[in-house]
Amino acid sequence: MEKNKAAILGASGYTGGELLRFLLMHPHVEASYLTADKHAGRNISDVFPHLGGFLDRRLETLDPDALPEDIDIVFLALPHGESARVVKELHKRNVKIIDLGADFRLSHGVYRDWYGEHPCPELIEEAVYGLPEINRQAIKGAKLIANPGCYPTSAILGLAPLLKEGLIEPDSIIVDSKSGVSGAGRSPSLDHHFCEVNEGVRAYKVGEHRHMPEIEEVLSVYSGTGVNVSFTPHLIPMDRGILSTIYVRLKKKRTTAQLIGLFEEHYGGERFIRISPEKVYPSTSQVRGSNFCDIGMRAATENNTAIIVSVIDNLVKGASGAAVQNMNVMMGFEESAGLEAPPIFP
Ligand SMILES: NC(=O)c1ccc[n+]([C@@H]2O[C@H](COP(=O)([O-])OP(=O)(O)OC[C@H]3O[C@@H](n4cnc5c(N)ncnc54)[C@H](OP(=O)(O)O)[C@@H]3O)[C@@H](O)[C@H]2O)c1
Repeated sequence: MEKNKAAILGASGYTGGELLRFLLMHPHVEASYLTADKHAGRNISDVFPHLGGFLDRRLETLDPDALPEDIDIVFLALPHGESARVVKELHKRNVKIIDLGADFRLSHGVYRDWYGEHPCPELIEEAVYGLPEINRQAIKGAKLIANPGCYPTSAILGLAPLLKEGLIEPDSIIVDSKSGVSGAGRSPSLDHHFCEVNEGVRAYKVGEHRHMPEIEEVLSVYSGTGVNVSFTPHLIPMDRGILSTIYVRLKKKRTTAQLIGLFEEHYGGERFIRISPEKVYPSTSQVRGSNFCDIGMRAATENNTAIIVSVIDNLVKGASGAAVQNMNVMMGFEESAGLEAPPIFP
């Protein structure tokens, strides 16, 4: 049977490259139209030598009007702001759209507070936040998906069961996250230069990272209660991976075994969530290259607190793997189609 056709706008970036890798393994969808900015005109296998022999495609200059008629789904792997301008044009056509950037993740007011004027506010309401583990039903009927941010995915999945059960104080949550450098994208910048990052760890945008309002807004809607998060991201000298350590205050005494039981029940049947047993805490190295989110935890009964450790690959469950998972839900494919490869270790 002929495969559905996907366009990747921003195919020469890190998330674009991962989208290509997953679509190469997808039984029902192929990447058939690719765009880039500085790399336009080059072949994708020049830009990504690891894909040599798998894909022979030219990178086109981005022009929404030039999108071929036979495209069924468009992935936008563009810098924020660029996506919204393109979505405005694409939305007139009969295509499904998944934006990996931040343009449609927040409500209008929150977006304006954190990013400024929105280039396409009329479509914000229509966009569905694409985290199947918390809103699969809405994704099924969506035309426009806002793929979640990478830090928010790790934090939201680590907190959702606790908030849903009303088990934690929603205004005393601390999220301490560490990310690999690919989280900043492929374009060179001084802050992400080898010598600036190697052999050191640094916090950045403390209390003012744009993923903080995303975590708060999504969890507030999900749990029906105002959630406040104190969020500190850190840059770690590794290629990929996010580890979030989450500190919460429990409203009722719970043991670690009880918390693990709660998470297992909440995520029972979720293909991409794995809960660690007691006294085992996940490492980014066990999810590398995969769409898994692994979660471990410990409750401290003496002071009614708990610590949750959540790990993902920022480029996979934090971006391109999640986008393919969303596409599968939107288009009625098996949710794990194209995503079944185990993580790479070591
Ligand atoms: N990296 C992550 O871990 C991650 C995780 C979640 C979400 N995201 C989001 O996903 C999006 C893509 O991230 P990324 O890490 O893949 O970025 P990236 O590596 O910097 O790639 C950006 C892509 O967009 C193209 N591009 C840049 N400016 C453009 C313009 N003005 N017009 C048309 N195309 C343009 C680039 O083309 P050239 O290469 O030719 O310049 C490249 O293909 C961003 O919104 C990011 O916030 C990233």
